[in-house]
Amino acid sequence: MCDVASGREPCRVRAGSPADCAALADIDTLVSASPRGAARFEAACGTGDNRSECALVLEQAGVVRGFIVLAPVLDEVSIHAFAVHPEHRRQGHARRLLDGALERMRHAGARRCLLEVRISNLAARGLYEQFGFACDGVRKAYYPAGDGREDALLLSLQL
Ligand SMILES: CC(C)(COP(=O)(O)OP(=O)(O)OC[C@H]1O[C@@H](n2cnc3c(N)ncnc32)[C@H](O)[C@@H]1OP(=O)(O)O)[C@@H](O)C(=O)NCCC(=O)NCCS
Repeated sequence: MCDVASGREPCRVRAGSPADCAALADIDTLVSASPRGAARFEAACGTGDNRSECALVLEQAGVVRGFIVLAPVLDEVSIHAFAVHPEHRRQGHARRLLDGALERMRHAGARRCLLEVRISNLAARGLYEQFGFACDGVRKAYYPAGDGREDALLLSLQL
């Protein structure tokens, strides 16, 4: 997928590989309150048929700018992690990643995509809304937040 019209460096969404793990862990450390750790990225970027998760990365000018980690189960797929490097946001990278992920999952036979998002995460909620995700419910006090807890919204999209 290219971005020539915007004048920025072209970018593409591709499967994560073992060589990407350090970059993914670095981005995750920058954005996550509880980073996943390199070992989980290694599993998601591997090639084994028994993987429970798989990662896609967005690469621009040869550099990884963001990632999405998916967990397919039968005809459903859950989004387990999703982030764009803080210095490269608002350039459509998350939209490209999500678009690429949903396209691949549809192709693989998935019929529904599921995820949880912090109620305060207006950036991610705006993105999911653009894709037509619907809210199925609320998980009360699901996430740690400062001294307390924060609700999660349960979202889904028919593919
Ligand atoms: C959420 C996140 C992935 C968005 O990445 P991004 O590359 O900046 O997003 P995009 O440029 O593709 O924006 C797509 C849409 O998302 C929404 N959005 C993104 N950033 C936003 C912001 N700061 N405020 C409000 N809406 C925002 C908008 O609807 C935007 O569409 P628009 O450009 O037409 O307004 C990024 O902010 C991030 O990594 N956040 C931390 C990790 C996270 O929250 N992951 C999601 C967990 S569920």
